[in-house]
Amino acid sequence: MYPQNNDEMNNEYVNNETEAAVYAGEENYDAGEVTEEAEAEKDNILVCDGLVKIYKTDDVEVLALQGLELEIERGELVAIIGKSGSGKSTLLNMIGGLEKPTAGRLYVDGHDLFAMSEKGLVEYRRKSVGFVWQNSGQNLFPYFTALQNVEAPLYFDHMSQKARREKAMGLLKMIGIDHKANSYPAQMSGGEQQRVAIAVALAHDPKILLADEPTGAVDSKTSNMIQDIFRKINEEIGITIIIVTHDLSLANKVSRVIMISDGKISTEKIMKEKYRQQLDNMTTESLAAVESHEEYSILDKARRVQLSQDALEMAGIDSNKVRVEVKDGKIIISK
Ligand SMILES: Nc1ncnc2c1ncn2[C@@H]1O[C@H](COP(=O)(O)OP(=O)(O)OP(=O)(O)O)[C@@H](O)[C@H]1O
Ligand SMILES: [Mg+2]
Repeated sequence: MYPQNNDEMNNEYVNNETEAAVYAGEENYDAGEVTEEAEAEKDNILVCDGLVKIYKTDDVEVLALQGLELEIERGELVAIIGKSGSGKSTLLNMIGGLEKPTAGRLYVDGHDLFAMSEKGLVEYRRKSVGFVWQNSGQNLFPYFTALQNVEAPLYFDHMSQKARREKAMGLLKMIGIDHKANSYPAQMSGGEQQRVAIAVALAHDPKILLADEPTGAVDSKTSNMIQDIFRKINEEIGITIIIVTHDLSLANKVSRVIMISDGKISTEKIMKEKYRQQLDNMTTESLAAVESHEEYSILDKARRVQLSQDALEMAGIDSNKVRVEVKDGKIIISK
C-alpha cells in the first residue's frame, strides 16, 4: 500500500522488503565493490564492454543487446536513438540497475553492476541514478502535490522538514514549475507533470539521470521546453544525462547522439563546435537548416564496423564479400 499522507510516508513509501530496509537505513549495504578495474575507468561515468542481454521466454530467446560497447564521460549529455525493439530501454534499464546483464562488463560511477548483489543494486538505485519515464503517471504519486512528490525521495535522507521543503522548492524553481508546487498531477498538463518528474528524479542528487522517451507524450513546443531543461540542468549541475528518444529535434540539441541498431551501437554523431557556439542564439527553424553533427561509424574492440544499408546500396555492394584496401592512408571498402 502507498502512503495516503506525509505521516504514513516514512513507513509505507516502499513496499519491497529489501528496499524498505535500505530506505530506513536499517542495514548499511555495500553498493557493489569499487574494484581496481572499475576504479581505472573513473573518468568515464559509464563503461559498457561487450554487453549482452538475453531475455528468455517459454521457448524463445531474444537477444536484446549483442555485445554493446559504449563509454560516457562524466557530465556528458547524450541522446540514444534507434528503431523500436533495437534495445534502447534494455540498455537504460541495465544502466539504472533494474535489469542485470547476461554477459559483458558494465561499470557505472566506479561500480561493477554485473557483480553487484541484489542489495547492492537497491542501494545503487537509491543513490546513483534518477529516472524519468515517458508516461508521467509512472513518475509521480497521484495523491501527492508536485512539492510532496519532490520531497518524497528525501524522506529517508534524515533531513529536517524545513530543509526538505527548501530543497524540493529549489528544484521546482530551477525547472520553472514552482508555481504548480501545490497542484496534484491530475491538475497539471503532461508537460508540467514531466517537469515535476525531472525535479523528483534530481531530488536525491543522483550521479546520472536516465530518461526513456521523456518527450514522447507531449507536443513539439512542450518537447522543446523539456529539452532546454535537460540542457540547463546538465550545464548548471554538471550531471550526466542519457536520454532515449525518437525525437530528432532533441537529438539536434545534444552534443553526442548514439544510434543503436540490433542491440549494438552502429554510429555516433558528434556536434560540430561551430554549431554548439551558435545553439543558444538560434531559432528552431534556423537550427534545422544548419548541419549540426559529424557522423562516425563505431569500430568495436574486435575491429568490426557496421555499415548502413544506404551506404552499401550507394556503393553497389549486394553480397557478403567485399574488397578492403588501404590507399593514401584511407581504407576503401568496395564490391
Ligand atoms: N522483459 C522482456 N522479455 C522478453 N523480451 C523482451 C523484454 N524486454 C524487451 N524484450 C525484447 O528485447 C528487444 C529490445 O527491447 P527494448 O524494449 O529494449 O527496445 P526499445 O529499443 O526500447 O524499443 P521501443 O522504441 O519500442 O521502446 C525487443 O525485441 C523486445 O521484444
Ligand atoms: Mg523502449
